[in-house]
This record gives sequence, structure tokens and C-alpha cells, in this order.
Amino acid sequence: MFGGHVVAMRSPETIPRSGVRTVVAGIVLTALSACTYDDVSRVGRPDVSRSGLNFGYAVSSSWLANTDYAEIVRRDATIVTPENAMKWDHIHPEPDVYDFSGADEIVAQARANGQTVRGHTLVWHQQLPSWLEDGDWSRDDLIDVLRDHITTVIGHYRDRFPGVVTQWDVVNEAFTSQGLRRDSLWQRVIGDDYIELAFRFAREADPAALLFYNDYYDDSMLGAPGRGGDGPTADGRCDVVPKCVATRNLADRFVRAGVPIDGIGFEGHVFDGRPVDYQAFSSWTLELGLQWALTEVDGPLAASDGSDPAALEAQAAMYESMVDDCLTSPNCDTVVVWGVTDSQSWVTQHTHGALGHAVLYTADFEPKPAAERVLSAIHRAHSTAGALDLGARTRSPTPRDG
Ligand code: XIL
Repeated sequence: MFGGHVVAMRSPETIPRSGVRTVVAGIVLTALSACTYDDVSRVGRPDVSRSGLNFGYAVSSSWLANTDYAEIVRRDATIVTPENAMKWDHIHPEPDVYDFSGADEIVAQARANGQTVRGHTLVWHQQLPSWLEDGDWSRDDLIDVLRDHITTVIGHYRDRFPGVVTQWDVVNEAFTSQGLRRDSLWQRVIGDDYIELAFRFAREADPAALLFYNDYYDDSMLGAPGRGGDGPTADGRCDVVPKCVATRNLADRFVRAGVPIDGIGFEGHVFDGRPVDYQAFSSWTLELGLQWALTEVDGPLAASDGSDPAALEAQAAMYESMVDDCLTSPNCDTVVVWGVTDSQSWVTQHTHGALGHAVLYTADFEPKPAAERVLSAIHRAHSTAGALDLGARTRSPTPRDG
């Protein structure tokens, strides 16, 4: 372990892979038949205190006002991520103005539900306010702005909602598909060390929170040949995909140099129905003493396939396989699905209507086969898990060096 700090992880033996697969195979038929809200609600919320697994959704404060939506989030989730409310354009709209209103609603509701929160995201190239994006910054001035933002945002949640925001996506999507640094305000003005600076500021602001680098590694989103691009492909093999290699090199360097990092977020937007090689992620992060998490899972279907049983079954299998990869990994304890219902998932807008139906519930708040499959797999794992090591859920409050 680095920095003299122990990252506690669940033992690989606690949830036997074959056990989970057998159990899940047994519910395929039930999952295929129409499952109702009541079927799923009987399953109830997983008991994280017993299994150490966090499961939940990206949420928006405006949708939490909808009682059906809020009830699904309350019932299913043990962790939530603000989908947009903590991004710069929402939370820091003017140089001297922080607007915590939307994010506070989400965090307050999570606290009332006994849930925790993944903070998302402190440094990204998108959704920046114009005062920041268009500013004429010197390196030193932009570092000051970055420090102030990270210190203020993390500090707000550390003080107002102690113990609720347990994880932060500190830096989001900093690499291109080729494994190079993505052009961004941060990269242009501050240079290569902006990532390291951000992690150091975050650790100073809340020594107890888990700090993640978050990105997407799915073949289709990397623009692989035959999948809408001419970028690299390696059938999801993270030892060959340049962005995975770049992330691994960054994490390796951080661990050796004592730069504070606890995990890698693997977004998991599976746009072509084929999950990539999460086993590789599990093993290299484990070697470095890091966690990994599935942070933004969704599985878009063609817009016309929303009620096609074969498509829904393939989607359910994809979700099951991803959840299984985390459940059976000793250093993954968090799965977040990027949205709650198909009517509000980002996919429709992002793909200009070509794809949709990407998440677990229909626009009418009905659970899809994937909902049944995911929730059942989690609950089965919980009931077979017995007493698991819960240490991976939160960091020790002891500050570490770096
Ligand atoms: C998306 C949101 O879902 C949309 O509502 C918003 O318009 C754009 O951002 N990777 C990320 C997320 O890290 O923050 C993005 O969320 C989806 C891709």
C-alpha cells in the first residue's frame, strides 16, 4: 500500500463467481416475463452494511420532485451521483458565486434516505461557465481558481453534510482515445500537472473522501473501426487500448510519487452492447492498491427496439455481466447507472434520437428485465456474502501523506 495507508478491500473469495452466475441464470426466465413495480419493490434496497456494495443512480434535482422517480431512487439505491448539479456551470456560475442549491437538494435527500453520494465532477473539459472558459488566465491564476473551487466545493459538503459525500470524481476524461492528454483549458493553461494538483487540493479539502480519476474505455465510445470511427480497438483489452494504458501509467506514477488517488472510475456507457474487459481493470488497479468503480453505466438500444424482447434481454445480460464483474472483483464496490428512467437518460439527446431505452426503468417507471436482473444479482450477492469487509466503502478518516 502506498503512503502507509491501507485501502481495505473485499476478499475475492467472498462472492464466488460461479455462485453468482448460477443464481442469476436461474432468474433469466422470470426476468424475461413482464416484471412489475411490485416484483422489484419486494426485492427492496440492498443492505450495504452487510455486503459493502454501493449501488445507485445518477440523479437530477428537478426529477427528484417526481414522486415515482424519487421512490425508485429511495428504494433501490445506496449511493447517488448528481448527474449535472456539481459541474462548474451549475455550482460555480460566476467567478465569486457558488450556487449549491441543486446539489444540496440531492445530497440532502440522499442523507434523508441513508444513502451516500459520489461527487461528480471537480475538473472536466465540458460544462464550464463562460467566465472560466473564455478567461485570459495565467498558469498561476488558473491554479488559484482551481484550488479555490476544489476547496470550496469539497469543503461545503464536508462541513454541511459530514460523511455523506464519500467519493469524488476529481478529474474526468483527461485522455483522448489515443492516450494523449485531451486539449482543454486545464491542459493548455496549467499543463500536465493539473491532474496531480487537483488530486492534492482534493485530499487537503477532505482527507476522508475517496478520490477517483474517471473516464470511459468502452470500445465503441473510443471510436473503434466498424463502430463509427477509426480509433484504436483491442476488443476492450485494457492492456492494449491506449487510453487504458495512459490511465494506468498515470495511476502508477501517482502511487509511486505519493500523489493521493484511491481509485479509477470506469464509466461504462456500453453503446454497442459489448462490455469491455473489466477483469483487466480489476487486476491492474488491485496491483496498485487502488479501487475501481462502474460510475456511469448505461446500455443504449436502437430507438425502435424499446419493446423488442430480444433487445431487452440482451440489455439485461449486458447489465448483469457488468454488475457481476464488479461484484466478483475484490476492489470494486460501487455501481452507478447513469439515469433512472428512459425518459430522462442523457442517451436520447446525446445520440440525437438514434438510441435510447438505456437504463433500468421505462418512461412509465416500469422496471425492465435489466432492473430485475441487476437488483436480483445484487441481492443474491448480499445474501450469500455474509460478513464482508466493509472497509472499501469509505476511507479511514486518518489523513495520509501526499
Ligand atoms: C452528461 C449528462 O448526463 C447530460 O445531462 C449533460 O448534458 C452532459 O453530461 N461522461 C460524464 C458525464 O462524465 O458527466 C456526462 O453526463 C456523460 C458522459
